[in-house]
Amino acid sequence: MVNPTKAPKPPLHQHIETQPMNNPPLILHPDALSRRSFLRRGSAAVAGSALIGGLAPERYAFGASNNDTLKVALIGCGGRGSGAANQALSTYRDGPIKLVAMADIHEDRLNSALGNLQKTHADRMDVPKERQFLGFDKFKEAIAQCDVAILSTPPGFRPQHFEEAIRQGKHVFMEKPVASDAAGVRRVLAAAEEAKKKNLKVGVGLQRHHQAGYIETMKRIHGGEIGDIVAARCYWNGNRPWQKKRADLEKQYGRPLTEMEYQLRNWYYFTWICGDHITEQHIHNIDVINWAKNAHPVKARSMGGREITNSPDDGEIYDHFACEFEYEDGSICYSYCRHQPNCWNSVSEHVVGTKGRSDIGRNTITGAEPWRYKAEGAKDPYQQEHDDLFRAIRNNTPYNEAFYGAESTMTAILGRMAAYSGKELEWNAALNSKIALVPDVTDFNAEAPVKPGPDGYYQKAVPGKTAVL
Ligand SMILES: NC(=O)c1ccc[n+]([C@@H]2O[C@H](COP(=O)([O-])OP(=O)(O)OC[C@H]3O[C@@H](n4cnc5c(N)ncnc54)[C@H](O)[C@@H]3O)[C@@H](O)[C@H]2O)c1
Repeated sequence: MVNPTKAPKPPLHQHIETQPMNNPPLILHPDALSRRSFLRRGSAAVAGSALIGGLAPERYAFGASNNDTLKVALIGCGGRGSGAANQALSTYRDGPIKLVAMADIHEDRLNSALGNLQKTHADRMDVPKERQFLGFDKFKEAIAQCDVAILSTPPGFRPQHFEEAIRQGKHVFMEKPVASDAAGVRRVLAAAEEAKKKNLKVGVGLQRHHQAGYIETMKRIHGGEIGDIVAARCYWNGNRPWQKKRADLEKQYGRPLTEMEYQLRNWYYFTWICGDHITEQHIHNIDVINWAKNAHPVKARSMGGREITNSPDDGEIYDHFACEFEYEDGSICYSYCRHQPNCWNSVSEHVVGTKGRSDIGRNTITGAEPWRYKAEGAKDPYQQEHDDLFRAIRNNTPYNEAFYGAESTMTAILGRMAAYSGKELEWNAALNSKIALVPDVTDFNAEAPVKPGPDGYYQKAVPGKTAVL
């Protein structure tokens, strides 16, 4: 068995057929790259950056001094967006920062986020009416106002928003998942390369990478304390998340909703915008296994379906998945996620090595020298990830989490595609899938990519019949 930390796997973006084959290797995690190679890339990036897309480098493209006020724009003003903006503004101790623009498609969501942020950060809010942007293409104007864009819409829109932020030369914090389909992952990877060339900093909301217990445990795994990883398992088994029922929405707004508007309000239940729950939630656990392996799987075999969710408002997503992710060294990650109340629940990640094993989420190593992480004032990882990103911006240190964010997103999508199709799927084939799920949405009257039948129910993927490539 080859230790994956000693023999890095082929970079993900070298598998994209449309990408040049001479790209530098994928950054699986910042730890995987030495400072020396970071610096080498950094200087090459600086030299080439002014030419990219004909855009001049932006003021902060190569760092901001601690005295400069960093201007932040929030794109997608929902629950997590409000949280991320709060965490970004809470970095004010490291230097001045202001929220200067907000964009959403729903006025009520924007207003509610604005009100909440005003309560906590009045001194750091500068979002007058003319910088409150409503509409599907308004994200461009909001991004134009800022140095750092927070991208926190549902994931289907992330590739478009990330591409634009990088095109405009802005630093980015974007929530996971970074896409809902393979076409979106390819766009994010291409934009991540641009970000690297422009020396832009990119954070991705896979906050376990900023959680002290995970980091310390991972150091030991990568240091060989459990030997070579031969098997892994991970779970997001829990209850169903929020749901916006069509009847309740129509009552609340006092009118019928267009199909597009309904799907965007109840977005969790539509694969084209959410990615299904394996992508939307279980990505966190899958990402931890990729991190432990310093690799992505090369193939997947999955099952999934719907056992207990069966109403039109459950849209098209499954309520359970079981996947085998196979890595290039032959090791397997068994991954399970479900939305089924009153069952055995777990949100966790475990690896078994040739010399021991680790419950990574509990921060333990079992083996010749058992070890448990002792928390000593560890910070909330949601705050830590913003502290780390904004310090990288202010100090101009290399920072680009988009590659492993895209890789973990693609791993979850691979598991979903294998379940939907019922086929064993290779990584390369899935990444190069010709099927794009996300249409260009310009308004609430746009045609929804999936529609209910006469009975109000949506078509679900049928293993053995549904095409995913
Ligand atoms: N890292 C974490 O632990 C974590 C936790 C929760 C959510 N998230 C992620 O954050 C993202 C948002 O989740 P949420 O819970 O905040 O959802 P939400 O529904 O509360 O917020 C989404 C917001 O985006 C807006 N929006 C939708 N489409 C838009 C578009 N095209 N342009 C502009 N605005 C648009 C919506 O109106 C809404 O205000 C998801 O990707 C989710 O997976 C991450």
